[in-house]
Amino acid sequence: MRVGRTAGLPPRSRADRLIGRIEAEARLDEAGRVLETAMARPAQVAGAPAQALGDALHGTGFGHPVHPMVVTVPIGAWTLAVALDLLARLGFARRRPADRTSRTAIRLGAVGAVAATATGLADWQHLNERARRVGLVHAAVNGTALALMLLSLGLRGRGRQGAGQLASAAGWASMAVGGYLGGHLVYRQRVGVDHADRSPVPRDFTAVARLDDLQEDQPRRVMLRDAEAALDVPVVLVRHRGQIRAMGARCSHLGGPLDQGWVLQGQLVCPWHGSRFALDSAQPTAGPATCAQPRYDVRLRDGHVEIRREQEEGDPRVLEGGEGPRTRAGKGGRAEEVLTAHHDLFRALFARIEAMDREDPERRDVLRVLAAELDMHEQIEDHLFYPAVAAVSPDVPIAYSEHRQLTDLLAKTLKLNTASLAFEEHLRALRAAVEHHAGSEERSMFVHAQRLGDRRLRQLGRTLQRRLDALRASQGSRLYRDLKIGLLEGWPTRP
Ligand code: FES
Ligand SMILES: [Fe+2]
Ligand SMILES: [Fe+2]
Repeated sequence: MRVGRTAGLPPRSRADRLIGRIEAEARLDEAGRVLETAMARPAQVAGAPAQALGDALHGTGFGHPVHPMVVTVPIGAWTLAVALDLLARLGFARRRPADRTSRTAIRLGAVGAVAATATGLADWQHLNERARRVGLVHAAVNGTALALMLLSLGLRGRGRQGAGQLASAAGWASMAVGGYLGGHLVYRQRVGVDHADRSPVPRDFTAVARLDDLQEDQPRRVMLRDAEAALDVPVVLVRHRGQIRAMGARCSHLGGPLDQGWVLQGQLVCPWHGSRFALDSAQPTAGPATCAQPRYDVRLRDGHVEIRREQEEGDPRVLEGGEGPRTRAGKGGRAEEVLTAHHDLFRALFARIEAMDREDPERRDVLRVLAAELDMHEQIEDHLFYPAVAAVSPDVPIAYSEHRQLTDLLAKTLKLNTASLAFEEHLRALRAAVEHHAGSEERSMFVHAQRLGDRRLRQLGRTLQRRLDALRASQGSRLYRDLKIGLLEGWPTRP
């Protein structure tokens, strides 16, 4: 048997291979070191002003890196310039005014490119090995784009419009390649994204250390277990001037261990790239980090330090038992019982369709009933149940995505002839998808939902049942559903 690098596997894409080569190119490191030293030395000499400038270029205190915003200027301006050139060449715009506007756009883009270079280099100097190499090539390619744009301005100034347009088109292409590499840095190498653990645990105060074990200004790491995400979450505790502070121990910049850092003037310093976080607010006070660390409320009980994860802005609020809109009493059990009963109805409808003769014309009628019930189920979950359990179940975002998958698969199935083999195949896939989704709700999300408390689940159950009954009974809803299903079937050609 041939054993080789690609045995049994298709080759990777050309772009992946090319970027892989850049990532592995150690010869770029020397150039990187020279550039970094050239930037670091003057900053070290200048001291505080350079630190303030660096923080502004990173976006520290702003909450996000500023580089992605600044690059929109050259991208937009240079795209406008090249588009105008093209329109003028094709005769859709008058040449002189188009050229004048193109030049202005190129100049504006050049100013933006210089700002983008400054912000990009500020971020780049704190990258590690592979990302640093790609970043260097990204900068070189974008530098080439800037040089070509300046050349274009020069050529146009000397009356060589054609050559100037060619140079700016080449500059635009170079910028696009630079954008691709920039995308790789963010989306694949996770540069500029938040590396802190944002696990919501513990939701209730939990003892994590003995107070006597904490020494003044000596960071101490404790671990929390997030069972739902199957993750261990490190948290750093610091005793400072009689107060105990706690924040996420994985640095938001690139994941450095803050518990191995040190305390300086009421701030915790990351040992990797020197970001500082205020002990009392967990906000970054010095970059390259741009976003705050996760925070924890702290209290002392019986000589123990107890912490609780602080809910962040935008987090769904946990509804403690019985809060929320008042609902009238009515029929229906707890929320999970109403939904499980509906799941069982799908299971029965699937079994019925599968048991029917393939040529039986009623097969399609039962399929439509199933489609209508699935539609109503998604509605009550999307609008009532999922928002109510979002605060207590991490499954909700993926459940929304799975609803979309189910709708897509149902749409494909409805289009098929119910007597065909393709229909059988799609029906089996749809049943498996519904079973996976409903099963995971029953095994996981409904278990998480217990945190809402019996009273809230009963209220919710009544609301779900009333809404389901209303959707089934309402003439308008029925007409709308029939229309939707008809369109999915390929209406008006449906039998
Ligand atoms: S990991 Fe870079 S400053 Fe913390
Ligand atoms: Fe669902
Ligand atoms: Fe469901």
